[in-house]
Amino acid sequence: MNQQGTRVAMVTGASTGIGFELARCCARDGFDLIIAADDAAIAEAADQLRQMGVSVKAVQADLSTAAGVEQLYGAAGGQPVDALLANAGHGLGGAFLDQAFDKARHVVDTNITGTIDLIQRVGRDMRARGTGRILVTGSIAGFMPGSFQAVYNGTKAFIDSFCFALRNELKDSGVTVTCLMPGPTETEFFERAEMLDTRIGQQTKDDPADVARVGYAAMLKGEGDVVSGWKNKVQSAIASVTPSAMLAQQHRKMAEPGSDRS
Ligand SMILES: NC(=O)c1ccc[n+]([C@@H]2O[C@H](COP(=O)([O-])OP(=O)(O)OC[C@H]3O[C@@H](n4cnc5c(N)ncnc54)[C@H](OP(=O)(O)O)[C@@H]3O)[C@@H](O)[C@H]2O)c1
Repeated sequence: MNQQGTRVAMVTGASTGIGFELARCCARDGFDLIIAADDAAIAEAADQLRQMGVSVKAVQADLSTAAGVEQLYGAAGGQPVDALLANAGHGLGGAFLDQAFDKARHVVDTNITGTIDLIQRVGRDMRARGTGRILVTGSIAGFMPGSFQAVYNGTKAFIDSFCFALRNELKDSGVTVTCLMPGPTETEFFERAEMLDTRIGQQTKDDPADVARVGYAAMLKGEGDVVSGWKNKVQSAIASVTPSAMLAQQHRKMAEPGSDRS
């Protein structure tokens, strides 16, 4: 809670998609917001969120870098963050050997390194106060080897696993960790990942507002994990008993460039 007695939520990747909708969930509940993204669209998102009657601080920072994470953490100015929604992330389609390595590294640095750096900083403060909610956007992609999106799926396997471990470490601390695992969702994700020429890029997807509502509710309840949408729940249950080689082959059919035409 800040000096005005209002709860504060920090939401990363809040300029578009699931993160913007998570920020809307927080604003609807009266949280003041500190929101972040890498490009200037974060200022427009902040303007829209302010219209919901809450105070919004927008931070433009590349969260794949230590400097970007430091900038965001510093923007809180020492005020307690009651809820951290670590959602920023992006994908990268195509065959791994054909990807530019700096782009692949940016996926790892954003989805893993920057994410856990921020969680460690904010999480330490929460533990010291004995209260806090952390929601991390993982993915059902973490359950399957992602042929033609190999690095991305690997990062989400890391995040899904990390969340359960951190949650366990923090049990009885007053701080809860929740992992939101969406399936394919209608956002800018697939365009940014250069995956519009894939079957998964073209298929009908979930509404980001629905996905965010499910994740936000799970965070408030302090649940460990939530897979949004019944189809994704079925898919992840099946994935848990399917050999990895078979999952990789299934993923190829969805994510190989040109699979939208086959
Ligand atoms: N869409 C799906 O099918 C799906 C499924 C499962 C999980 N997810 C996960 O959901 C999360 C949100 O993705 P989305 O689907 O909502 O996609 P999106 O619309 O592309 O939103 C991604 C958000 O993350 C921000 N971001 C990405 N890299 C960043 C960086 N290095 N520094 C700061 N901000 C960064 C983007 O801001 P900038 O534009 O400024 O970079 C944007 O605000 C991601 O973690 C993604 O992996 C998505």
